[in-house]
Amino acid sequence: MSPEHFAALWRSLLPIGRDGRDGGYLRRSWGPADLECREWFTEEALDRDLTLDPDGNGNLWAWWGDPTAGDAVVTGSHLDSVPHGGAYDGPLGVVSALLAIDLLRERGATPRRPIGITVFTEEEGARFGVACLGSRLLTGAIDPARARALTDRDGLTLADAMTKAGYDPADLGADPARLGRIGAFLELHIEQGRALVGTDAAVGVGSAIWPHGRWRMEFTGEANHAGTTRMADRRDPMLTFAYAVLAADEEARRLGAHATVGRVEATPNATNAIPSAVTAWLDARAGDASVLQEMVEALRRRAAERAAADGTGFAVRPESESPVVEFDSGLRDRIASRLGGAPILPTGAGHDAGVLASHVPTAMLFVRNPTGVSHAPAEYATDVDCWAGVTALADALEELAC
Ligand code: GLV
Ligand code: MN
Ligand code: MN
Ligand code: MN
Repeated sequence: MSPEHFAALWRSLLPIGRDGRDGGYLRRSWGPADLECREWFTEEALDRDLTLDPDGNGNLWAWWGDPTAGDAVVTGSHLDSVPHGGAYDGPLGVVSALLAIDLLRERGATPRRPIGITVFTEEEGARFGVACLGSRLLTGAIDPARARALTDRDGLTLADAMTKAGYDPADLGADPARLGRIGAFLELHIEQGRALVGTDAAVGVGSAIWPHGRWRMEFTGEANHAGTTRMADRRDPMLTFAYAVLAADEEARRLGAHATVGRVEATPNATNAIPSAVTAWLDARAGDASVLQEMVEALRRRAAERAAADGTGFAVRPESESPVVEFDSGLRDRIASRLGGAPILPTGAGHDAGVLASHVPTAMLFVRNPTGVSHAPAEYATDVDCWAGVTALADALEELAC
């Protein structure tokens, strides 16, 4: 097998959910493209004689070996995307998992432990706001009643979206029996920054995930006419919002953290009206939990002070929070040494592997991304590097399971 095998399977998934205008992906969980991706995975698993075993949380599972035997080695990632995201974030881990099984079979390997492939649902939280929703549900990290009531931008609940897609939302919830059958979890993922650019390594091994989270910020004021309202008479929440964005940026730079406001909604969103409200989402991350907390607190204080001066209202509340993750050091070192001393690196991106890591020994593999861009159409990896990723994943699975 060779990079051409990667390219062929990759090409079969590439058209699903692609926006012809910018080449970005619109794979919203439980939307039409996501359902097509699920069909694609199901067919690929059946073609390989894997045993399909979807769970009640909308996550897909396929097994080589007896899924009930326990002490399984599971690998996988996700197929949903951020709006206009890149092709590789998520799908690379799923395609690589299928190909790693092909490669192990070609090598004549026989698993002592069952090998599973999983596709987690709503990893990006792009539709319902909570990242890693499928793995959080599986591990009991989110209450299923709260999950069912989450709404998308059109006001549709998760329960409604699942029902429309033919899934039963009543089945959502922690699945300790399934979790208990997993002995190790591996996620292969595209590297989402510049950590491997300019190195001679196509593949790195994860050490940690930065603590991070999402905060919903509500700025409220008074709607009024853009032409007739004197500047002195305004209570404009857009100004408080703009100040908060700059304050978040300043605090992040001061503390060596990352802060992003990538989503904003103005009400009524009219050119000639002062808005009555602005809702915006802060994505904040830092290498250290206390720094993250300090940054969010500083933003909260500064935005509240500014709101008082502007005569506007300001409220902020967490929507999802992910503590620091340290991947299993034994697993990490074993895989890195099997790969001949691959570099070990942390990441500021969240992953289902991060959720699994507090329940199961977990490791991650990262494939070099020469653009250093992710969550955007320019995200890229060469076929040769992707094939190096498949080989590394097969080596790791062979080391652990065969
Ligand atoms: C998911 O990819 C995230 O880190 O936001
Ligand atoms: Mn992502
Ligand atoms: Mn991802
Ligand atoms: Mn992610």
